[in-house]
Amino acid sequence: MGREIDKIVDILNFYKTLGFKELPESFIQSLFRQNSGDLLPSQDEYNSENNKTFIDVLNEEIRNCEKCPLSSSRKNAVCGEGSIKAKLMFVGEAPGVDEDIQGRPFVGEAGKLLTSLIEKMGFSRKEVYVTNSVKCHPPMNRDPFESEISACFDYLKREIEIVYPQVIMSLGKVATYALMGMHGKLKDLHISKLRGKLFFYEQIPVIPTFHPAYLLRNKKDKWLTWEDAQEALRRLR
Ligand code: URA
Ligand code: SF4
Repeated sequence: MGREIDKIVDILNFYKTLGFKELPESFIQSLFRQNSGDLLPSQDEYNSENNKTFIDVLNEEIRNCEKCPLSSSRKNAVCGEGSIKAKLMFVGEAPGVDEDIQGRPFVGEAGKLLTSLIEKMGFSRKEVYVTNSVKCHPPMNRDPFESEISACFDYLKREIEIVYPQVIMSLGKVATYALMGMHGKLKDLHISKLRGKLFFYEQIPVIPTFHPAYLLRNKKDKWLTWEDAQEALRRLR
């Protein structure tokens, strides 16, 4: 460790002698590539630290957001939850009553069903990332308005950029609509027409499937959801 630092100090002095005021990018890259034990973070650790900061900043913004009228009726804005290094991301619609009270996504009955799907797929909730298209609870559990989905979309976009999962499963019409950017087409979409089809959001495959709240009412469609889950697993590298 001590010798590694001496080596780096030598190199830094060398650059200083040459009159450099900043370090060349190639030198910084080479530090990351060197197997320098716990001396420096690896590129992965470095990215992951940065992403943790980005997600903390984003979540703070969400908790204080007043960009749409849902801010005045919510109890808590509900941020995404899980691993920022998740390979698999689930995008729901909007927080329900339980989520609004607890300030956490998918903790009610639909959430229990989603958790059991995640576990059947071989993951824990901590290993995947679970979030919503709209971060605040719409009163009376109504569908979010298009204006609310648009106002909130930037947060989902940034979450996806930070986590950059290998596969996204969109749960129900609203999430699928939001990710497809189908402005003005919400009424025309039905999830049963969309599931089984794949599309891409920023080159990430998106697999539309039924919302767990729908599955609580239509148990037979659980089989189709399981088929969609298999497709998601096949696409994970
Ligand atoms: N339904 C959703 O779409 N999201 C939640 O967080 C809970 C229920
Ligand atoms: Fe902000 Fe989204 Fe909540 Fe509207 S729903 S107040 S845009 S966080």
